[in-house]
Parts: sequence; C-alpha cells; structure tokens
Amino acid sequence: MNRIFSGVQPTGNLHLGNYLGAIRNWVRLQNDFECLFCVVDMHAITIWQNPKELSASIREVTAGLIAAGLDPEKNIMFNQSQVSGHAELAWIFNCVARLGWLNRMTQFKEKAGKHRENASVGLYAYPNLMAADILLYKATHVPVGEDQKQHLELTRDIAQKFNHDTGTSFFPDVEPLIFDTAARIMSLRDGNNKMSKSDTSDMTRINMTDDADMIAKKIRKARTDPEPLPATLKEFEGRAEAENLMGIYAALSDMTLDEVCAKFGGGQFSTFKKDLADLAVNVLDPIQTRMRELMDDQASIDAVLRDGAERARAMSAPILKEIHEILGFVRP
Ligand code: AMP
Ligand code: TRP
Repeated sequence: MNRIFSGVQPTGNLHLGNYLGAIRNWVRLQNDFECLFCVVDMHAITIWQNPKELSASIREVTAGLIAAGLDPEKNIMFNQSQVSGHAELAWIFNCVARLGWLNRMTQFKEKAGKHRENASVGLYAYPNLMAADILLYKATHVPVGEDQKQHLELTRDIAQKFNHDTGTSFFPDVEPLIFDTAARIMSLRDGNNKMSKSDTSDMTRINMTDDADMIAKKIRKARTDPEPLPATLKEFEGRAEAENLMGIYAALSDMTLDEVCAKFGGGQFSTFKKDLADLAVNVLDPIQTRMRELMDDQASIDAVLRDGAERARAMSAPILKEIHEILGFVRP
C-alpha cells in the first residue's frame, strides 16, 4: 500500500513555487492515496523564528493548504511539533546518518552561507528530521519540488543503513514524486535562483496572499531580456527569465511549454506579462478568498491540526514501538 508524506515549512508566506511545485500536486494525489501533510514547525526553528509570527504562520500555511484544495478529513494534516515521535526518531537517525553524508547537503551549505560555524546544529541535522518525518509512518512516496531530491536520497540511505545495521527490512524504500512541470519555479528577479520564502526581496516571489494589483506589479517588474519571446524550446538557451515566466504560464494554464511558445513566440514581453498576470490572478483569487475566510476562523484551523495530530500519533505509535524493540530499548 502506498502512503504519501510531505511537508512544508511555516516560515513566511506560501508562494507560487510552493503551490505549483508541491501543493497543487498534493491536491491531485489525495484521491488515490493515503496522505499525510505536515506543517514542519520543528524544521522552521532551525533558523530563529519570532514565536508570535511562527504561530501565525503555522495557521496561515494550514489555511493555505485547505484553501488550495486539500481535504482535512480525507488526509491527515497536522503540525509536526504536536507529534513527539518526529523528534524521537530524528534522534535515532542522528545516530544512523554519517557526518560525511550530511556534509554533502547543498541546502545546508546554501542556508548556512559564510557563517557555517555559527549555524545551529539543528540546521545541520535538518535532513535527519526530514527522514524521521517520512519513515515514522513508513511512507513510500514523497511529492516535493526538485530542491528536496538530495534530502530524499539521504532518507533512503538512512533507511537502508538502519535496515542493514539491525538485520531487518523494517523501513521501505522511499520514492520522490517530482512532477515535471513547475518542479523548480525561479525568482522573478533572477532566473538562476529559485523562488524562495527566505529571499529578502518580496519582489522576487508571488505570495499566495498577494492581491491582484500586487501580482500584476510583480509580474510587470519581473526581469526579462530585450528579445521577443522564444518560439521554440531551443531558443530558451541563455534566457532563464523567459523560460521561467513561460513555464509559470504553462503550469498555471495546464499547457505544455511547447504550446506556450507556439502561442506567444515572437511577441513582446509587455503583452505576455499582462496575460500572465490575468491568468495568475484567476487561478489564485478563489484560493485567496477561501484562505481569508479560513483565517477568520482560527478555532476551526486549530481543530484540523488537533485532529490530524491525534490520527498521526495513532498511526505512528505501533511503528515507534517496533523501533524500540529492534533497538533493544527497554519499555517495562
Ligand atoms: P518549503 O517552502 O521549503 O517548505 O517547501 C515546501 C515545498 O515546496 C517543497 O516540496 C519544495 O520542494 C517546494 N518548493 C519550494 N520552493 C519551490 C520552487 N521555487 N519551485 C518549485 N517547488 C518549490
Ligand atoms: N525540507 C522540506 C522543504 O524545505 C520540508 C519537509 C520537511 C519535508 N519534512 C519533510 C518535505 C518530509 C517532504 C517530506 O521543503
């Protein structure tokens, strides 16, 4: 039986990259699989978070997931810190993963930057907690954007080493589910950098909470080049910004990039940008309206998180118990 687990950090706003690269795919998977969707607040604190903003963000991201179409009854939706098994299994995986493996993680290098010695130990061990998130439920498939691929390879390494060291086949092989379109949405200001919550400039991303005027403004000001729009995929060579904007159009309209090239190739960016802004507003507006309604009813968001955590605890309890037995922990 396939089981799906995925997570999103409650740090700042959900943006178009999260929606197109991850959340929209989760919505499509929920009918065919047993799914857990987790707001990973313990991952968030690997970098300092203002507590009030963190609470608000946990609720806002939950509202965003529901507004985007995830059904909290059909799926298990919860915030990570409510289920202590994540922290417990992460510690066990700290003892399974090797320093050499973590040293290769590019996300740590990017996030720690020049001040590596000053990064938290949590930021370094972040992928072990991610492996624990997934394996605590013996999930088999993980839908994510491309940036998470390396972390999922590490998850597989951890599962295999645990199985090998304990002489079991306890943990399953975990498969990433990375969808081709929109696996990597880039910054509106630099086609070689991914759109990210942590970028200091808000003009680099379209937030799920941006209103129509703001979306239009950000797209109007998005970086482009002076040439007309490419008419074939070959013409994207050296034109990362054009590829990104036309890729966003393709993802939002469910067209292929080829079709978008056929439609707009040879035209001017100014005309294309108007169409792209209209399309983005059309797709995002109903989600935003629903999100605002949900945000006005904090009690119901909290009820979703409470119920999800209860179901997650029940699902993970027998798996954790077996892990204790395998490791030789005494639970008299
Ligand atoms: P995060 O915001 O880092 O917690 O990411 C949540 C999900 O969104 C993960 O599955 C990421 O891979 C995905 N994601 C984040 N940024 C992007 C992006 N720029 N393009 C595509 N997917 C993304
Ligand atoms: N590391 C992921 C990100 O930044 C979030 C995440 C945490 C996750 N735990 C996970 C994603 C488990 C998939 C499965 O996007």
